[in-house]
Amino acid sequence: MSFKGMDIISIADLNKDQIEEILTLANKMVPYAKGEKTTKALEGKILANLFFEPSTRTRLSFESAMIRLGGSNIGITDQQNSSVAKGETLADTIRTVECYADAIVLRHPKEGAARLAAKFSDKPVINCGDGPGQHPTQTLVDLFTMKQEQGSMKGKNVVLVGDLKYGRTVHSLVEALSLFGANLTFVAPDILQIPQESIKVLEKAGISTKLETDINNAIADADVLYVTRIQKERFPDQSEYEKVAGSYRIDNATLREAKKNLTIMHPLPRVDEIAPEVDATENAKYFKQTFNAVPVRMAILSLIVGGQI
Ligand code: CP
Repeated sequence: MSFKGMDIISIADLNKDQIEEILTLANKMVPYAKGEKTTKALEGKILANLFFEPSTRTRLSFESAMIRLGGSNIGITDQQNSSVAKGETLADTIRTVECYADAIVLRHPKEGAARLAAKFSDKPVINCGDGPGQHPTQTLVDLFTMKQEQGSMKGKNVVLVGDLKYGRTVHSLVEALSLFGANLTFVAPDILQIPQESIKVLEKAGISTKLETDINNAIADADVLYVTRIQKERFPDQSEYEKVAGSYRIDNATLREAKKNLTIMHPLPRVDEIAPEVDATENAKYFKQTFNAVPVRMAILSLIVGGQI
């Protein structure tokens, strides 16, 4: 199947075979991502990185992926230093940037912005987070890490904890996990529980789901614990944020009843939801997950922009 020129806006834009093809290629990209092998697969190609919201991992891993593939990067990391500050619309920004690049990655505070950008661009657009909407390439990174650590996800218990309402990585991930047969438990304060739309997708796929408010009721059965930050910046009312801030924290005491081979993940950044003492455990895989962003994004770019290693 050809990915060339394809937009990735939502994880639903990819079927199971396409996801597996990306993950298989990502595996081949690992030695290139580590700099142990080199390639000029995307020599002469340019990636435009448009980040209208803060990012460390997504932006730098896309830039690193492009450089490891022999290509080049241009970008905007601050709206105030671009013509957006003069009132330029997203549509005009995209029409402009597509003149200068072979693909566009976009992070934007508004849900639906990436879909709009794709409408105005003949070049492929990759959604790197649209407000509380979706973050599909993070999901591919997450799936790659889960498969590395746990093998097949069929029948595995994935416990997602934290801000399941505003956390876009969760929204993309649960849709993808519905294709791979995992059982899902959602642990969150009531006001941050998983949206009904996500539950409907899971019910339609015949996936077993449980809702909890206390991580201690879910930890013993977990194969994967996927922790997320409370998205302070997305609360319309900061007093609502104060009610749930610090309401859960994973530390070594939380893990006392956990399975020996539990995989702990976090898309990062974290604030205080995983205690630093957990970093030293065999279970902590969130920095491995962070590295995996490079081979996975190399696979995505080489398939979409074109060019074989
Ligand atoms: N995981 C993730 O999207 O991190 P950044 O916000 O640092 O890009």
